[in-house]
Parts: sequence; structure tokens; C-alpha cells
Amino acid sequence: MEMYLPILFVVSLLFSYSHSSVLDFCVADLSMPDGPAGYSCKKPANVTVNDFVYSALAITGNTSNFIKAAVTPAFADQFPGVNGLGLSMARIDLAVDGVVPIHTHPGGSEILFVVEGTICAGFISSSANTVYFRTLYKGDVMVFPQGLLHFQFNSGNTSALAIVGFNSPSPGVQITDFALFGNNLPSALVEKVTFLDHAQVKKLKAVFGGTG
Ligand SMILES: *[C@@H]1O[C@H](CO)[C@@H](O)[C@H](O)[C@H]1NC(C)=O
Ligand SMILES: *[C@@H]1O[C@H](CO)[C@@H](O)[C@H](O)[C@H]1NC(C)=O
Ligand SMILES: *[C@@H]1O[C@H](CO)[C@@H](O)[C@H](O)[C@H]1NC(C)=O
Repeated sequence: MEMYLPILFVVSLLFSYSHSSVLDFCVADLSMPDGPAGYSCKKPANVTVNDFVYSALAITGNTSNFIKAAVTPAFADQFPGVNGLGLSMARIDLAVDGVVPIHTHPGGSEILFVVEGTICAGFISSSANTVYFRTLYKGDVMVFPQGLLHFQFNSGNTSALAIVGFNSPSPGVQITDFALFGNNLPSALVEKVTFLDHAQVKKLKAVFGGTG
């Protein structure tokens, strides 16, 4: 019998050690820089329930803009409680004719739930450039694999609302039009790398705020 006692002691030591080392959460300390592993953690003593609750998604986004759409994120930057948990959300409001232009999230896959309205959504595969798109109705869910170009637009007669989830607290976003036409990449280079003509590039630079 005695020979088991040291083993039991070691086992209980392991349990107490692992118990004390478990990190229940890592609420983002937004005063410190973000990194590949996320934000560093706020001291547990400074964490409150407010770090785990976020109310901005209750508010209808302002769609008075040229895309007639609003994306309200609940990523780690806005919602520190999701830091380290591998998930986040956003709210998408689409006025009639509203569009989330073709874009990617380098850091995560997306799942979209249509709360109200009719949304045409799709993505394009990277290997074969195969297009997968559908008209989605209230209650439909569509998933967009990580890093792939995708879009959503209101294809109905009423405003639309969707809630999206991501398997990353900071999925990031790159909108292709802004990448091409919203910066100072010289027009001649944009024309060269896109095969678009000069007039079209100048027009799109004016729309997306680019120079050069
Ligand atoms: C944590 O709380 C203490 C005491 O309220 C405060 O002095 C300190 O700045 C806080 N630290 C962070 C990282 O919020
Ligand atoms: C919505 O945005 C537009 C353009 O920025 C602004 O003029 C308008 O006041 C905003 N509306 C609300 C309700 O905030
Ligand atoms: C939009 O409204 C028109 C005219 O009322 C109707 O014929 C059409 O089916 C509607 N389309 C959708 C997608 O609801």
C-alpha cells in the first residue's frame, strides 16, 4: 500500500499545479501592442464583466455612405473579452442596393446568418477561381473559408441585416477596391497590374480616395 502513496502525492501535485496554471481568459490589454498571438492579458484583478459584454451590435449601422452598407465589428479591438478565444462577431447592415465590396479576411473564416432581408453572397476559390454564390434569405447561413475573396450585397427590396462570426478574435479585412484604388500606387502601375484602362483607374481612384 505504501508504494502507492508517493504516486498519489505526485498526481495530486500535478493536479494542483495544472489547476493553478489554467488561464481562464486573456482579456485584451488594449494599452499594449497587438501581436500574432493577440493582445497581452489584462491583470485578472482588473477584469470585470463589462470586458465580456459588448452592446454596439444592438445599434443599426449607418448606411449613408457610397457602399450603402455598414459593418460593425466586435473584434478584440472593440471587444477585449474575445482576445485569445479564437472567435469574434460583426453586424452587417445593408440598405437597398448596399454592398460589402469584394474583400478577404486574412486571419479567419466567416459564417454569416441572415437576420432580415435578402442577401446575395459568394466567394471565389484560390486554386481554380471557382465561384460559389447564392441568394440567401432570412435564416440562411453561409460560410466563407479563411482568406478567400468574398462579397455580400442586398439583392432584395428592403434593408437587410446579417450577423457574422469569425474563428479569430482579429480576422482583419482587406477590401480589394481600396487596396487597388484607395492609396498612392501610381495609376500607370495600377493599369499595368490590372489591365484596366487609364480612364477607369482614374475614375476608381476618385471613388475610393486614391492619389497618383
Ligand atoms: C489595474 O488596476 C489598477 C488599480 O485600479 C490600476 O492602477 C492599473 O492601472 C490597472 N492596470 C491595467 C493594465 O488596467
Ligand atoms: C450617417 O452618416 C452620415 C454621413 O457620414 C451623416 O451625415 C449622418 O449624420 C449619419 N447619421 C446618423 C444617424 O448618425
Ligand atoms: C421587389 O419588389 C417588386 C415589386 O413590388 C417585386 O415584383 C419583386 O418580387 C420584389 N423582389 C424581391 C427580391 O423581393
